[in-house]
Amino acid sequence: MLVGHAGVIRTETAGAAGSSVGDRPRFLEVHAHRGGAGLAPENTLAAFRKALELGVDALEMDLHVTRDGVVVVIHDETLERTTDGRGDVGDLSFDAVKRSDAGGKFAPAFRGERVPALQEVIDLVRASGNGRVRLDLELKYHQDRPGKPEDFEGRVLDLLRQTGFAERVNVISFHHPSLAKVKALEPKIRTGLLAGGRTPPPDPVGLVRQFCADYYSPGFRHVTPEAVAALHRAGIPIVPWTVNEETEMRRQMALGIGTLAGDGIATDFPDRLIDLVNARLESRP
Ligand code: G3P
Ligand code: CA
Repeated sequence: MLVGHAGVIRTETAGAAGSSVGDRPRFLEVHAHRGGAGLAPENTLAAFRKALELGVDALEMDLHVTRDGVVVVIHDETLERTTDGRGDVGDLSFDAVKRSDAGGKFAPAFRGERVPALQEVIDLVRASGNGRVRLDLELKYHQDRPGKPEDFEGRVLDLLRQTGFAERVNVISFHHPSLAKVKALEPKIRTGLLAGGRTPPPDPVGLVRQFCADYYSPGFRHVTPEAVAALHRAGIPIVPWTVNEETEMRRQMALGIGTLAGDGIATDFPDRLIDLVNARLESRP
């Protein structure tokens, strides 16, 4: 027996891959996209704190590396959109990145939030006492400078080994060779293959296998009953992103998301998804 979202008791066995219950979600992980970007400034400690309070299953976050080699949590290559700072994260020192405010653009009440180092997020999770939540670490590569940051995988792995968090993370990326590299360097790290773009890949199962990933994470518009069936037949869980409307959450579940252990949905509004999952669990006979 597990304590589920917001205290609801879940009776299914966790981690039993392959169980299917038709169109009723049996396993559905709630992934707080960018920490839950609809509820607090994205990729900040405030967002991660809130998501932990809600009881999410995973905190999704985006990683870059500063000029002086610190792995930091921010979506864009540059500071402008989410902070009051300027410049490319990869050209700035960690101290310089830290001087920018990462909360005020979301809402004045969040002024003072900073771009956190990955180490700070790990410290926050550890201090919370939550031994269950996973961290989805997205390795973001520089659009205009292929190969940057250098040895990204090695830097992140070093930190995960030092902190003992290697088995608490899902490393995810659109840069698929990076996933294969992570797996080769540290087989116990779980990886998720991100797929975006206008058209879905023709063979998601083949793609996941080619890059030795553990699950498939497509833009939600790419999810079809055929793709879900093929992936699930192959034992591959699916975590679509970024699903923010309740009607779309329900549609994804009707397509079969949540019928295989490891399936989940990444959302900016984890509170909505938790309510939905809890309502479904409570309405079971
Ligand atoms: O979880 C995958 C998703 O985060 C990819 O999109 O742009 O929000 O990083 P993006
Ligand atoms: Ca991301």
